[in-house]
Amino acid sequence: MNRHHAYSKGYPRGGTFSPSPSRFQPRFQPALRRRRQLFQRLFLLGGVTFLFTILIFPSWRAAVLPALSLGLLSSSFEDLQLETVRYYDLSKVQGTEMGWERGERVLMCTPLRDASSHLPMFFSHLRNLTYPHNLIDLAFLVSDSRDDTLGMLSRMLQEIQNDPDPKMSFGEISVIQKDFGQKVQQDVESRHGFEAQASRRKLMAQARNWLLNATLRPTHSWVYWRDADVETAPFTIIEDLMRHNKDVIVPNVWRPLPDWLGGEQPYDLNSWQESETALALAETLDEDAVIVEGYAEYATWRPHLAYLRDPYGDPDMEMELDGIGGVSILAKARVFRAGVHFPAFSFEKHAETEGFGKMAKRMGFSVIGLPHYTIWHLYEPSVDDLRRMEEMELERQAREREEQERAQHKESGPSKAQDAADTVYVYSESDKDSEEGLAAQPAPHAEKGASNGHAKH
Ligand SMILES: *[C@@H]1O[C@H](CO)[C@@H](O)[C@H](O)[C@H]1NC(C)=O
Ligand SMILES: *[C@@H]1O[C@H](CO)[C@@H](O)[C@H](O)[C@H]1NC(C)=O
Repeated sequence: MNRHHAYSKGYPRGGTFSPSPSRFQPRFQPALRRRRQLFQRLFLLGGVTFLFTILIFPSWRAAVLPALSLGLLSSSFEDLQLETVRYYDLSKVQGTEMGWERGERVLMCTPLRDASSHLPMFFSHLRNLTYPHNLIDLAFLVSDSRDDTLGMLSRMLQEIQNDPDPKMSFGEISVIQKDFGQKVQQDVESRHGFEAQASRRKLMAQARNWLLNATLRPTHSWVYWRDADVETAPFTIIEDLMRHNKDVIVPNVWRPLPDWLGGEQPYDLNSWQESETALALAETLDEDAVIVEGYAEYATWRPHLAYLRDPYGDPDMEMELDGIGGVSILAKARVFRAGVHFPAFSFEKHAETEGFGKMAKRMGFSVIGLPHYTIWHLYEPSVDDLRRMEEMELERQAREREEQERAQHKESGPSKAQDAADTVYVYSESDKDSEEGLAAQPAPHAEKGASNGHAKH
């Protein structure tokens, strides 16, 4: 009675004929359940065996998995660390402003040519970089060198990678040797001479493309180009540039000079904004011509990043650029992946880094310079400077000798005069007067010393 009551309570409308699922199912359940469990177990066993075989035999892994869809198995591809098939999700390496926190890898590219004298300084910079070293892969291209650049490089790399400080060693390191037939003498004079520029820049462009193409991996989010002859740069330069989150960004590059040359000077004139004059000039040149900035031969009247520097300006201030210099470029790896490169031909009448800036701009990437964020290029005196310095050194020595002689002369001179004065005093005045006279003597000397000191400040 109770049961029936409960039943009718549970199904108030349907009465006894309405089939209740709870009563209907149990009749078939045992057989069905047993069969389903059997299938489940078989399936599970099969799956586990399959996974085990795949894990144990790499060759099986390689044979079986590629047959399956890449897209479906993407996550397991990453987990399994396949030997012959690699899966990369490039959306994860786009590059963001806080790369060091998100573990973004930077490829640092440095072309080297007869650079052994700069390497100790360069490695000192490397050691000082604050961007996590394990996230930086180094890539060097040694080309057309007649000195021991390669030997020295490998010694210094070994040293830094074996440093007792675990934070010192870098990620993957590639050293590539390839000559590009740079015939121009690498001394300062001929390197910066106008005539040699176009062909020199085209060869440099090839070298850069080569280096990048051989070393850029799908794991890289950023590419940092850095020359070996930078003398002073903030240790935080990679983070500083990265924080701007631009596709291509360069700092201002100046160089220190000896005092007689003015103390300092804009160095990198390849970072500029396009001007009407330059565009008009470009129109008149033939197809293969290459304009190189910073030479009187082509007066372009472009606003240069270098000349806009204010030592007290905001280091975060940005300026849009068209051409850029190559001393220190931070670029997102996706810029290169999109096909932007260093033209080894005349691209809009420019080559190498200047052409790279123009091409990036043409492809819609942001190209930015920081006028008040400055790094300092090494000062290498030109032949003229060296000659002038030699002359000045001789002059200085001559002046020193002269001064010494004069000082000696003075030393003996005034003391004699003083003696004479004293003598005069002693003999012409009383003892009391002479004491007063001697006491008054030092005052003018002290005054003269003070005014000299002031003039120096
Ligand atoms: C690296 O840091 C050390 C210690 O602060 C400093 O003496 C050295 O000059 C730095 N190197 C460069 C190239 O700036
Ligand atoms: C990089 O190499 C590929 C072939 O491996 C080539 O098609 C491409 O043009 C190269 N890119 C540059 C920028 O040199």
